[in-house]
Amino acid sequence: KPEQNITVLGNTYKTDSWTNVRPKILEKVGKNLHLKKGHPLNLLKTRIEKHFYENYFNRWRNPLFSVYDNISPVVTLEQNFDSLLVPEDHISRSLSDSYYINTKYMLRAHTSAHEHDLIKSGLDAFLIFGDVYRRDHVDASHYPVFHQVEGARLFTEHQLFSKVRDPTNLKLFEEGRREPTKQESHTLEAAKLMEFELKSTLENLAADLFGKGLETKWVETYFPFTHPSWELEVKFQGEWLEVLGCGILEQQILKSESIVKQCVTLIYRHKIFISYFKIDCVWQVALAMCYTAGAVDSIGWAFGLGLERLAMTLYDIPDIRLFWSEDSGFLSQFEGSDHLKPIKYKEGAHPVSKFSPCINDLSFWIPENFSENDFHDLVRNVCGEYVEQVKLIDDFKHPKTKRQSQCYRIVYRHMEKSFTKEEVNVMHEKVAKLATEELGVEIR
Ligand code: PHE
Repeated sequence: KPEQNITVLGNTYKTDSWTNVRPKILEKVGKNLHLKKGHPLNLLKTRIEKHFYENYFNRWRNPLFSVYDNISPVVTLEQNFDSLLVPEDHISRSLSDSYYINTKYMLRAHTSAHEHDLIKSGLDAFLIFGDVYRRDHVDASHYPVFHQVEGARLFTEHQLFSKVRDPTNLKLFEEGRREPTKQESHTLEAAKLMEFELKSTLENLAADLFGKGLETKWVETYFPFTHPSWELEVKFQGEWLEVLGCGILEQQILKSESIVKQCVTLIYRHKIFISYFKIDCVWQVALAMCYTAGAVDSIGWAFGLGLERLAMTLYDIPDIRLFWSEDSGFLSQFEGSDHLKPIKYKEGAHPVSKFSPCINDLSFWIPENFSENDFHDLVRNVCGEYVEQVKLIDDFKHPKTKRQSQCYRIVYRHMEKSFTKEEVNVMHEKVAKLATEELGVEIR
């Protein structure tokens, strides 16, 4: 493909062999639904913010968590992956899972991409709200753009053990072994208290949002940047939906700046103090080292929560595409709402399912390097919000030729009118044509 320029939020980037963002996706960058007054995602954001503002304070009785809600979703691969210790061969790095602008920049796949930067800047409690981008399947609870809130909180030894009656023998760190319950550098008591802090913070949030009635469960999981790690699932329409991931931050993330760099910063910061006491150079470095230890002497937890899924559960919104609806039948139900007032979305007023779906199947032979996500993404790119679901309904390998054939069922449905058979056929043919040209499939 020839090199081109693409412009995102006023900055221009050169495309290269890694570029896989599409115009339909770039259209969404800057929409900032979470900042749009009266939008259900904004209502939910306000509720979460308030919850943290009203329940957590620093020692000067100011809100503990600072909020960032307008950081650009264009990040470097370092921010999205390396700064979080994501291994080179992790699937999230693949072209079929993330949206790349080029080999250096991408659309963030999670708000965790900013975690390292904010911790480095000295923050010890923050929330980040933002749009995130992932290549995924097409159905009622997946959309390639969604919104997350990230939360992180660091504790010093003193802070973590402040509620313990006699904390004299309690330490945050030890040189031990990595176990299912803790990292090698953490003591068991620190890890356990952190787990308790983290889970109760999130359970309190869930109880505030949903009242006591919500069915939830904790599931142990893996993230490259936390250990131990958990997911919280909630029951929605009879199914367990994963709504958040969390865990104890890998200690390496809190101290990943080089010692030399930290010394320089600290010597600089304490220059006035040092020159006042006329301490010579060797002592300056020694002193800086002591401070350095102090600077990384914290332990942290983090969580990342998907706003759409939570809003769907909270407001009874049956399809994730509705968040992008410009239709007044949808938005007017939330506009002017007090964020605290319980709202239930009424299907009748904005009938997602009132217009009947058009279902078309497409079968093709797939080439060797075919990825299912590529096909889902292609359909989304051709049909935008007019596709409700793409589902693999048959996967078959020819016993002799060993060629593999797949059949996808595509559910087309407009949210504001009924499609005619002809309109759907035009889209369906376009999907078949582009799949042939771009993904190298052979229609059967
Ligand atoms: N970033 C993770 C995700 O998007 C969620 C997460 C955030 C997990 C913070 C652990 C800590 O799935």
